[in-house]
Amino acid sequence: MTTNGFPRLYSGIPGLDDMIEGGFPFPSVVLVAGSAGAGKTTFAQKFLFSGAEKGEQGLYISTLSEPAQWMLRYASQFEFAKPEFYGKEVVYYDLGTELRKRSGSEILDLIDAKIAEVMPARIVIDPITVVGTMMKDDYRIFAFDLTTRLKNWQAVTLLTGEVRPGEMYPAEISYAVDGVILLMLSDEGDARRKYIEVLKMRGTNHLTGKQSVDITRKDGVIVLKARF
Ligand SMILES: Nc1ncnc2c1ncn2[C@@H]1O[C@H](COP(=O)(O)OP(=O)(O)O)[C@@H](O)[C@H]1O
Ligand SMILES: [Mg+2]
Repeated sequence: MTTNGFPRLYSGIPGLDDMIEGGFPFPSVVLVAGSAGAGKTTFAQKFLFSGAEKGEQGLYISTLSEPAQWMLRYASQFEFAKPEFYGKEVVYYDLGTELRKRSGSEILDLIDAKIAEVMPARIVIDPITVVGTMMKDDYRIFAFDLTTRLKNWQAVTLLTGEVRPGEMYPAEISYAVDGVILLMLSDEGDARRKYIEVLKMRGTNHLTGKQSVDITRKDGVIVLKARF
């Protein structure tokens, strides 16, 4: 579908597409930022598996040097993460080991090569903020080059970003992306209440303000009708 002149890729997150005029602009690069445990990885995986259901190719790039089995075990608690998609519609790529021994431009080339091999419509880099910790001063330039390259592919890329307590979103990356979505835990710290907020989405008349979210075994992250 197309809204405001942009083709849209439905997010796969129940309730979110209604907030962003039907889906993510296609192609685009979107930052999903938030506190630890707020549901960023779950969100990103649901995005990939929803595409897989329709035969779309997905690429999950981990920056954590975790074995594929680890991701499998985590995701397998969710009903949407069907094992038959692994290694086919949903391809796992561990960038963590490479990150430790290669330069920024080599990393960009590795990512491009993997995308060229898999030809995904949906890409996830989880979490991108780990790269920032490793690159220090070069991170701003890397983040800009990365998003520029990703926008050349016919895909929507989700970059997940962990924010430190008191911080809203990772500033180094947010200026370069087409969209920023926050996933946060209530700072009251009590009942693990969570919310989602669309801070920016290029070409999109998006809903503003915080909406309550829940995480369920069946659907992963879901946006509730209630304002937070
Ligand atoms: N089966 C489940 N049912 C409900 N909530 C869950 C379930 N599994 C995980 N969660 C919630 O999801 C959170 C982890 O989400 P995750 O996507 O890993 O967060 P992040 O990547 O932002 O750190 C957990 O802290 C927990 O609250
Ligand atoms: Mg995570």
